[in-house]
Amino acid sequence: MRKTIAVMTSGGDSPGMNAATRAVVRTALSEGVKVFGIYNGYRGLLEDDMFEMNTRSVSDIIQRGGTILGTARSKEFETAEGRENAAENLFARGIEGLVVIGGDGSLRGAQQLTEEHNIAVVGLPGTIDNDIWGMDYTIGSDTAANTIIDAINKLRDTASAHRRIAILEVMGRHSGWLALITGMSGGAEYILVPEEQFDLDKIGTEIREMYEENQKRYVLIIVAEGAGSAIDIGKKLEEKTGIDTRASVLGHIQRGGSPTVMDRVYASTLGEQATRALISGVSNVVYGIRHGRVVNVNLYDAVHKKKSLDPEYLRMAKVLA
Ligand code: F6P
Repeated sequence: MRKTIAVMTSGGDSPGMNAATRAVVRTALSEGVKVFGIYNGYRGLLEDDMFEMNTRSVSDIIQRGGTILGTARSKEFETAEGRENAAENLFARGIEGLVVIGGDGSLRGAQQLTEEHNIAVVGLPGTIDNDIWGMDYTIGSDTAANTIIDAINKLRDTASAHRRIAILEVMGRHSGWLALITGMSGGAEYILVPEEQFDLDKIGTEIREMYEENQKRYVLIIVAEGAGSAIDIGKKLEEKTGIDTRASVLGHIQRGGSPTVMDRVYASTLGEQATRALISGVSNVVYGIRHGRVVNVNLYDAVHKKKSLDPEYLRMAKVLA
């Protein structure tokens, strides 16, 4: 039984991180376990910037995007010496277990901490990218997808009014999941993802035919940032088709916002179960959702295996476009 733990949020923030943090803290306190909150991710761990949390520390945050603990990317932590300092700070406070809420980079850092210093770590997948191996969902991905679909709905109005090609670039770092799921739910004619090759000449020819033969009023294209730049692709398509084209880059708007019910419930569930497991002696796993159920995935596998897009979704998106 671990009696003192810590929790941190790391990497790109995502809506639902606060719900997860709240669940970690309240679960620990319910078991009589002391819980420290680490500010600003690995940077705060290196600077020993942490505080003992109580139930009031996480009041009124379940509905808030971002993360009250703050987050930061830390170059120093990427060094063995940095990770040694981090481990020493944890040992100095008698912290026996660490909950890391973050994406693939953050969970990789956690895995190194475990491997090099035998720190007991349990991970929670906090990223809008939904790119963690072994699970169907990551905290914040549902809210980000709903933010994107709101933008798509608005783009359809103006693209239709002007008979334009509208191209929207969405986040996902190296994963096309956000583009695929929002392209499908937004009825996009084309969804460009890093996981699949695409031919702009062929797309240009098809769009010209749509306008000339089917009196198509407009075309919507969703491009994942890892597949290319909406602005560059837009310029090329306008040259190839002669059709007015406008590109939009949604950027960091996708990272904010009040988490959806799904993100709040899953974040709370994962936070509660991961904390209970950590306290009871479990470590070296990432808690996630697979087929609607809570699972735990080996931390090494979660950060070293690449998650692929669902081929059925990729196939269906083309049929339904
Ligand atoms: O990993 C989450 C994410 O939002 C990616 O989709 C995106 O490419 C990256 O973070 C942006 O990182 P930063 O906020 O450091 O610019």
